Amino acid sequence: MSIQLHIHSSREVAVRCVAREIATLIRNQAHAVLGLATGATPIPLYQELVRLHREENLSFRQVITFNLDEYLGLESTHPETYWNFMHRNFFDHIDIPAASIHLPSSRVAAGDLVAHCIAYEEAIRAAGGIDYQILGIGRTGHIGFNEPGSPIDSITRRVHLDEITRQDAAPAFGGLEHVPTHAITMGCGTILSARKISLMAFGEGKAEIVRKALRDPVTDQVSASFLQDHPSAHFHLDLAAASAL
Ligand code: F6R
Repeated sequence: MSIQLHIHSSREVAVRCVAREIATLIRNQAHAVLGLATGATPIPLYQELVRLHREENLSFRQVITFNLDEYLGLESTHPETYWNFMHRNFFDHIDIPAASIHLPSSRVAAGDLVAHCIAYEEAIRAAGGIDYQILGIGRTGHIGFNEPGSPIDSITRRVHLDEITRQDAAPAFGGLEHVPTHAITMGCGTILSARKISLMAFGEGKAEIVRKALRDPVTDQVSASFLQDHPSAHFHLDLAAASAL
């Protein structure tokens, strides 16, 4: 099965398309399970979903969410934790119950890490698995924080962040030295277990890695290339992100 490609005239058109799919899923299925991403790419998607909640009565009361990843070692009050990012950009503006929101912890002690990661996998399974997974793509080709070399069947675990990924995060942290070196991420195997996957990529800066993920042979050096073998993986691109295809 190959990745289904959707090239949109703009980022706004792309996020409206993905938001419509999510809204249809939520309206048609009790307890829809969403896999969510952070970063710059999904922010306009969350804005559109908040708009659908406010203006078109889209309710998230029955929705369950699992985020892809979280930085390790940040205080819970740090603005760059993904927990804070998600609440600021999405959860604070919709009617999702707090108990339905899941992210790995940024504060888990070293001795509790393995149990924490296994519990995250079990919580996904107990919820019935992920119906719809949102992804971005990093310049290293990562999905979640599955940096080059991540095995296709990897599960939720502690990972070391690639230097390119840390450099990309440096402005938000006010300098490279403040960017965490480690994170917890769903594995490639966890992500590939989702029933439907939509990867969004916008802007020229993503064009080359999008080309590699879509057109080059599947390799663990570009985790997003694993999506080539998924039965329902979709790339939603704007014209700039599609410009190297
Ligand atoms: C975020 C995540 C990452 C980002 C990727 C792209 O939860 O898991 O894989 O999706 O680094 O980030 P942006 O969207 O900031 O370019």
